[in-house]
Amino acid sequence: MKKPMFAIRGVFFAFFLLLTIPAGALAHKLPAGFKGFKDSASCAPCHKKIYDEWSMSMHSRSDRKSDPAHNAVFLAFSRTMAKAGKKAPYFCGSCHNPAAGQSVGAKEAYASVPGIPCAFCHSVESMSGGKIFNTYSLSTSMTSSEAVSGASAPHPVSKWSFASPSKMCLGCHGKMKNGKGTVICSMDMEGHSDCVKCHMAETAGSPADGSGKSSHFSHLFPGGHYINIMKEGISLSLEVNKGKLLVNVKNDNPHYFPSTSPMRAAYVKVALLDKNGKILFASPAPMPGKKELFMRVFTAGDKKGVPPWMAEKAVDSRIKSDETRTLAYDIPKGAARARAVLYYRLFTPAAAAKFGIPAKDARPVKVTETGINVN
Ligand code: HEC
Ligand code: HEC
Ligand code: HEC
Ligand code: HEC
Ligand code: HEC
Repeated sequence: MKKPMFAIRGVFFAFFLLLTIPAGALAHKLPAGFKGFKDSASCAPCHKKIYDEWSMSMHSRSDRKSDPAHNAVFLAFSRTMAKAGKKAPYFCGSCHNPAAGQSVGAKEAYASVPGIPCAFCHSVESMSGGKIFNTYSLSTSMTSSEAVSGASAPHPVSKWSFASPSKMCLGCHGKMKNGKGTVICSMDMEGHSDCVKCHMAETAGSPADGSGKSSHFSHLFPGGHYINIMKEGISLSLEVNKGKLLVNVKNDNPHYFPSTSPMRAAYVKVALLDKNGKILFASPAPMPGKKELFMRVFTAGDKKGVPPWMAEKAVDSRIKSDETRTLAYDIPKGAARARAVLYYRLFTPAAAAKFGIPAKDARPVKVTETGINVN
């Protein structure tokens, strides 16, 4: 597939529009007496298993230094701003590097801590709804889903105000809109299920040295960068019905497939072969408008494929939670076998080329494949 799948031009304009909102409204609220965040490495001596998991997660690699894809998109945004004679503030940090001074609107300088550190999530007290995205109110003490006294931990831990630990994820994952109020990405819309159950599975090993527990909630937070989680809940099956080949893609996940970043794409490739393995039919390249592509394409009026900053609506061909998408194909004469492969991409090749995102991030990854005899 040589042709770029779609033009992702304009993603940075969406961010441009966001900037008409005062930067202070995008910062997290600090408690009185705040002295800065502890580096995650300081938790490692006692929480080794959790620290090792977190170190491999995208939460530890979400900032400009450690995520080349994020940095590339931010630089593209900066160049656009520079053309308009403006300096780009790093408001992305509210979610991508929340323990950087600018992201919390700290008046006094303090050392910023990379990624989404332990000390950020574990000082969240509550969430404040925002117009384009949410922010958090932070506490000076350590917080968690359970209160722990200083007797069992060298540091007391107080309880989050959220009804469930999942609710604390939604400050960053809940929503992001453009200047027109059009949703760019949103877990709010995809369903508030128990994030912890799937993305923080209970795993063997004590959560802390000196703890009485023998298992802990994994801090690997697998998503698009861990293809194994893609295999869960997504299934592909083939059948022949009334002379047609039916390709069924079933999504048992609580999210759309793929979710949630608008840059993600998934597609199937279908082929019908004769008894010698010669290809008689191959499905077209997965372009917008083709049934084989599962992705969101933004629209304005009757224009399709507009950049997100112009977006009023979206043509969303992603597969909804609990949906089975069925694609039908004519079976050519002489066909003996059919096969289908489901692929996932973090970024489209067009987006990678546009932003200078490392090409490896645009490589298609095989999720699953299957085949049947059709004669
Ligand atoms: C000197 C050792 C030590 C250090 C350093 C340490 N902790 Fe702990 N922590 C513990 C122990 C022990 C517990 C109690 C665990 C238990 O009883 O299950 C605990 C409990 C916790 C809990 C509550 C767990 C629950 O059951 O809900 C959280 C959250 C936590 N620590 C986070 C952190 C973070 C974040 C850091 C770094 C900023 C850190 N800890 C540094 C030893 C430590
Ligand atoms: C409201 C919180 C929030 C803000 C603000 C935000 N992001 Fe994100 N971003 C996220 C979340 C959450 C994800 C993960 C979504 C997913 O995996 O589907 C993400 C993922 C990304 C990715 C994909 C990264 C990868 O390695 O796959 C890129 C690129 C990105 N953001 C760029 C930006 C840029 C550039 C800005 C600022 C101009 C920004 N984001 C602002 C929350 C935010
Ligand atoms: C993205 C947010 C986030 C980050 C980052 C994070 N945690 Fe957690 N942590 C959670 C949530 C949510 C839970 C609660 C899971 C539950 O109780 O269901 C938790 C639970 C814990 C627990 C209790 C685990 C158990 O099984 O009893 C400890 C200890 C802990 N975290 C320490 C850490 C340390 C140390 C780091 C950094 C290496 C860290 N956390 C990073 C969100 C986070
Ligand atoms: C401070 C903001 C913030 C919080 C809080 C947060 N996340 Fe994230 N999360 C992000 C960002 C930003 C990314 C994208 C990082 C990147 O790819 O650059 C991300 C990525 C992810 C991914 C995708 C990882 C991958 O392999 O691509 C998953 C899954 C995830 N988060 C789950 C959670 C869960 C579950 C919680 C709550 C326990 C949570 N997050 C809390 C900001 C946050
Ligand atoms: C029943 C299991 C399950 C629950 C519950 C769940 N997820 Fe997921 N999540 C998945 C699977 C499987 C995928 C990968 C397939 C997909 O993208 O649809 C995924 C994908 C994601 C992604 C996209 C990763 C990427 O890189 O683009 C993010 C972010 C995410 N989940 C965060 C969350 C948050 C936040 C919650 C809670 C509101 C949550 N999930 C609840 C199973 C679950």
